[in-house]
Amino acid sequence: MNLKITKMDKDDLEYLIQNLEEFDEFWNEKILRDEFLNENSCYFVISEYSNVLGFGGLWFNIDEAHIMNIAIKKEHRRKKLGTKLLEYLISYAENEKKDSITLEVNEQNIPAINLYKKLNFEEVGRRKKYYQNTFDAIIMTKKF
Ligand SMILES: CC(C)(COP(=O)(O)OP(=O)(O)OC[C@H]1O[C@@H](n2cnc3c(N)ncnc32)[C@H](O)[C@@H]1OP(=O)(O)O)[C@@H](O)C(=O)NCCC(=O)NCCS
Repeated sequence: MNLKITKMDKDDLEYLIQNLEEFDEFWNEKILRDEFLNENSCYFVISEYSNVLGFGGLWFNIDEAHIMNIAIKKEHRRKKLGTKLLEYLISYAENEKKDSITLEVNEQNIPAINLYKKLNFEEVGRRKKYYQNTFDAIIMTKKF
């Protein structure tokens, strides 16, 4: 595959908004637009030629980065695109001189948890019954 990872631009954003259900079942147009405009956030797309196959974003505070989301188009999952995009987000955060990178994931989301563990994120805490008042959010961190 001829893949590249670039900063999300307005065309990518509009494409994602039109096709969001093919990538992610939890985000909506408002969240994505707000995130795109947030000056403390940085969003990327992974594409092959002009086809957007996935997106992911970081939010920064003074000393740490937070992964806000990472999503691969359903028909392109299990091809290591999530791994490539996550590796890119990690190295981007490291180059920004952050101490660590953190995220929250639903305890039910086994694909994502496995992906994060594979890249050496460790569970550091839980928010009990955070999702639908039922499922825990697992907080995972990777220190640099
Ligand atoms: C999580 C997600 C980004 C993974 O992307 P992907 O490109 O399919 O992942 P990869 O092909 O790089 O897989 C890397 C590892 O993740 C794990 N994994 C991925 N999909 C999995 C699945 N369906 N079941 C179990 N483990 C899975 C495996 O450990 C896999 O390694 P392996 O292929 O050697 O077994 C993708 O499933 C997705 O977009 N999910 C919906 C959005 C979402 O939930 N994002 C996370 C928000 S916190």
